[in-house]
Amino acid sequence: MDAADTTSPRLAAALRDGARTLDAAGVPDPMVDVELLAGHVLGVGRGAVQAAALRGDPLPAEDGAALAALVARRARREPLEHLTGTAPFRHLELAVGPGVFVPRPETEVVAQLAIDALAAVPMPRPRAVDLGTGSGAIALAMATEVPNAEVWAVERSPEAYAWTQRNAARYGGANAHLVLGDLADALPELDGTVDVVASNPPYVPDDAIPRDPEVRLFDPPQALYGGADGLDVVRVLSRVGLRLARPGGVIVIEHGEWQGAPIRDVLTGDGWRAAATHPDLTLRDRATTAIRP
Ligand SMILES: C[S@@+](CC[C@H](N)C(=O)[O-])C[C@H]1O[C@@H](n2cnc3c(N)ncnc32)[C@H](O)[C@@H]1O
Repeated sequence: MDAADTTSPRLAAALRDGARTLDAAGVPDPMVDVELLAGHVLGVGRGAVQAAALRGDPLPAEDGAALAALVARRARREPLEHLTGTAPFRHLELAVGPGVFVPRPETEVVAQLAIDALAAVPMPRPRAVDLGTGSGAIALAMATEVPNAEVWAVERSPEAYAWTQRNAARYGGANAHLVLGDLADALPELDGTVDVVASNPPYVPDDAIPRDPEVRLFDPPQALYGGADGLDVVRVLSRVGLRLARPGGVIVIEHGEWQGAPIRDVLTGDGWRAAATHPDLTLRDRATTAIRP
C-alpha cells in the first residue's frame, strides 16, 4: 500500500455510511443492501465486498460516487433489484426494472410444485403454461429445469412483456414460447392438451395497499391487485385452466396467506379435483394445486 492509499476513502467506511443512510430510510436489511450495491458497482459478489472491507481496501473516488448515488436511490426505496437490474430466481438471474413485477423468493416454491408436476408427466414432450409470466420467472424455470417440456408464457402488459422477451432471449431455448395477450383467451390451440397450468396472478385485494414502498410504488399495479377480494384473476384462471388442461392435468396457483380456502372453493366449485394448499418456506400458505377430472 503506498502513501496515497492511506488517505483514500475506505470501502469499509463507505459501507458503514451507506448502511446508516439506508437504516434511517427504513430499509429492512441496510448492510446487506449496501454490500450488494457495492458489489454491483465493483463488479464482484457480496462475499468479495466483505473481504475487501475487512482488508481495508480503498474505494476509488469514481466508485464511491457511483455507490453514493445508488444508496441515495435505495434510500428513496427504489427496489434493490431495480438498481442492480437483476433478481435471482432459482438458478436464473432475471433482468428486471420498471414495468415488471420483481420475482419473489416465495414464488420459487410455487415454481417447484409446477416443475415437480411437469417432470412427473410420463410423456416425451409434456406441456406447461405460465399465465401472467412477468419477467418469465416460472416459465423459464420450467423450461430450463424440465428441458424436454414445451412451455408457453403469457403476459398482457407490453411493458412487462419486454422483460419477458429479454429474459427468454437469455434463458429460453427452443422450448419456451412467448405470447403477448390476455390470459383469459390465451392459447386456444392448446385446449385440452396442457399438463401443467401455472400462475402467480395479481391477488392483492384492491383495498389492501402494500406497506412496503418498494411494492406500493414500484411494482406495476396490474401485477398486484385482483379486485375486491383479490381473487378476480383466480376465478378466470380456474376456468381457463379447465379449458387448457388435459384430463389429469394440474393447476398451480400462487396466492396470499389467507386465500387457500376460498381458492380451493373456487376450484372445487368449477369441477377441479383434489384441491390442496401448500406452504412456502416460512410455512405460510402460498399455493393451491388441483387436478382436472
Ligand atoms: C404477480 S405478477 C407475477 C409475475 C411472474 N409470474 C412472477 O411470479 O414473478 C402477475 C403478472 O400477471 C400479469 N397479468 C395480470 N393480469 C393478466 C391477464 N389478464 N392476462 C395476462 N397477464 C396478466 C401482470 O402484468 C403481471 O406481470
